[in-house]
Amino acid sequence: MANVETRDKRDKRLRITDDEVIEAPINPKYIRRLFQYAKPYKSKIVLSVIVMLLASVANLASPLIMQMALDDCIVPQNFTMLPWLALAITVSSTLAALCVRWKIKLMDITGRKMLATLREDLFNHIQELGFDFFDSRSAGKIMVRVINDVNSLLDLFTNGVVNALTNVVTVFIIAGLMLYLHVGLALVSFAVLPLLAALIFILKPHITRTWRKVRAKISSMNGYLHECLSGVRVTQAYVREEENCETFRQTNRDIVSSWMHAIRINNAFWPGLELVSCIGNILIYFFGVQWMHATGDAAISVGVLTGMIWYLGRFWQPLNQLSNLFTQLLVAMASLERIYDIMDTPVSIKSKEGAPKLPPIKGTVDFENVVFGYDTNQTVLDGVSFHVDPGQTIALVGPTGAGKSTVVNLITRFYDVRSGAVKIDGHDIRDVDLRSLREQMGIMMQDTFIFSGTIMDNIRYGRLDATDEECIAAAREVNAHDFIMRMEKGYETEVNERGSRLSVGQKQLIAFARALLADPAILILDEATAAIDTHTEILIQKALEKVLEGRTSFVIAHRLSTIRQADCIMVVADGGILEAGTHDELMAKKGHYYHLTQAQYAFLEAL
Ligand SMILES: Nc1ncnc2c1ncn2[C@@H]1O[C@H](COP(=O)(O)OP(=O)(O)OP(=O)(O)O)[C@@H](O)[C@H]1O
Ligand SMILES: [Mg+2]
Repeated sequence: MANVETRDKRDKRLRITDDEVIEAPINPKYIRRLFQYAKPYKSKIVLSVIVMLLASVANLASPLIMQMALDDCIVPQNFTMLPWLALAITVSSTLAALCVRWKIKLMDITGRKMLATLREDLFNHIQELGFDFFDSRSAGKIMVRVINDVNSLLDLFTNGVVNALTNVVTVFIIAGLMLYLHVGLALVSFAVLPLLAALIFILKPHITRTWRKVRAKISSMNGYLHECLSGVRVTQAYVREEENCETFRQTNRDIVSSWMHAIRINNAFWPGLELVSCIGNILIYFFGVQWMHATGDAAISVGVLTGMIWYLGRFWQPLNQLSNLFTQLLVAMASLERIYDIMDTPVSIKSKEGAPKLPPIKGTVDFENVVFGYDTNQTVLDGVSFHVDPGQTIALVGPTGAGKSTVVNLITRFYDVRSGAVKIDGHDIRDVDLRSLREQMGIMMQDTFIFSGTIMDNIRYGRLDATDEECIAAAREVNAHDFIMRMEKGYETEVNERGSRLSVGQKQLIAFARALLADPAILILDEATAAIDTHTEILIQKALEKVLEGRTSFVIAHRLSTIRQADCIMVVADGGILEAGTHDELMAKKGHYYHLTQAQYAFLEAL
């Protein structure tokens, strides 16, 4: 096959997949909305904060006790108090550990519950959104929102609020204790705090961001790899191996260099932190010893010096956590922006307030001067009107992109008409309860959808309360029983999502069984154009006759045999119905339909 595209010299690296932002500025409105989810757990959150504060006080008591041990027992060689001080340290450390454990358990459960509620709300909303929403977004991106974006809030839910509060308090407690030990030395050691803050609040977020970029690049490479593997046949057919290798090579190298960069700055952090601590310690020792000897400051002792150094060492941890929280918050904002973008999308197609249920459908369908387009600047149907009596089979034919699927999308109210009306049994479908409308309709889409689960589950999707026998009877009716029984576990055979284990024809037969089981008053069948072997073709033909029996049906067919049997054939083109009538009438008329069939015959003969 000819390689039609000329090779260009453009950068072949994959762009980081997202046009989606990773961080967004903090938006108080989002935080307020998020707190709605925390409301039911208010008492648990307050309890966690108290427990954490207790833990941090217990934790910070140890250096103070050690200072007493050094100054009052070890240096003066008076050991009577020592066992008690040892006991106090043991108790305070144990208490701190127990409190932390309790808090983790408490907040882990609470955070996950809040997350589950948010995920449920999001899922429920997505389920109700109209087709127009899905038209403009890929399933992959929606999935990322439901899974990754919601998960990225977990840390914020479980640790964020509680840790933020306790960390701020801890920093103040440490500072207070240092001042209590010795004001002068405390002020000297605070001199290193700006350096510490710079490391934690500037370098650290930079490191996090760099790592995130590396991860994003790796995941886009994974995506590319996946695409290449699944499209390997097309790649080889179009001789695109070299281009793909080049893209992969550049992306791969790009990842390596980003990774090196990340490692370089990452390696600067910990030594930097050590250095700052070291400088702090030196300052404390230097001034401590200086003041102790030169000025004879009696308030400085070995215990005070040691206590100071311990406290300084503990200073960085809450600060570090606060900086983590800040980055977490920025990431959470980006996720929330995307989550609320979905949550705030209004459900475009819904029942009107108090809309009555549609009574059992007899099957009359009317289009009254229907105008419709998917976008405002495009019109697919321009003033379409027709009337269909109950029980009729209507075949919609016409060139690709003419609007056949669009007509049926309007009958099921997947979209609302721009003007005019679609009526069923005389009821405008916008005025009746949506559920009662769709429940009485059977729809088989152009691409048959098979859900993951067993074949039985897939047939039962048509009517959830159907018994196994009813499902099997439906499968028998449409001649699907035989091939199902030939599968390893019969009806209990697991088919994965999209039914990749089934042929196109088999998927269609299962969809027929599903439709027959639902027994809808109006059936819509958007047939796939796929070529099917003659044996399955006959099976499908027979199944179709069975399914169409006794109900109003709209069939978008590509098989002349199906079309010929229809009560009325409508030729859809140029934004309207150009012709309507039976096969014989239209053939006699020698109009569009006649030419369409002639062309199809010519095509078939040419094969
Ligand atoms: N979801 C959508 N968003 C925007 N435009 C759409 C959408 N679906 C279809 N269209 C456009 O509307 C027109 C009619 O599409 P429709 O799917 O009804 O054609 P069709 O007659 O069913 O074609 P085919 O025989 O190929 O299935 C086409 O021009 C198509 O590009
Ligand atoms: Mg179509």
